[in-house]
Amino acid sequence: MTSTLADVRIIDLPKFEDPRGNLSFIEEEKHIPFKIERTYWIYDVPGGQVRGGHAFKEQQELIVALSGSFDVVVDDGKNINILSLKRSYYGLFVPNYIWRKLENFSTNSLALILSSTAYNEQDYIRDYGSFIKMKK
Ligand code: TYD
Repeated sequence: MTSTLADVRIIDLPKFEDPRGNLSFIEEEKHIPFKIERTYWIYDVPGGQVRGGHAFKEQQELIVALSGSFDVVVDDGKNINILSLKRSYYGLFVPNYIWRKLENFSTNSLALILSSTAYNEQDYIRDYGSFIKMKK
């Protein structure tokens, strides 16, 4: 429960620039500090919609804007920060016990999330009041 916004960070992913098109990649426990248990993606988001709006007890994640752009709002219970993602060679590392939501999606944006855990509803903290209590 000790994660703070100082633990949230942009990871500069490898990028091979090539006249044929650029290439980036991620290796678990090398470019990111966890093993990848699950990958999911968020797409076809209608204008103005917000995804997320919760924290995780265990899950750590890396969020990448594979296409388009969106904002990730992160909150450690004391401070709030907004990070805009719009390049596929940057990943936002979000540790556990950080409240986060994704918003301001551009048309055709594609958010890739690499997760350290399998999907488990019990891992979610969906009530903001409970989150704040846990952080105290
Ligand atoms: P959820 O993480 O609650 O989405 P958001 O926080 O963006 O609103 O996921 C929505 C639903 O999708 C959830 O109730 C169950 C399902 N789901 C899975 O079955 N597996 C997954 O890996 C994820 C992320 C969601």
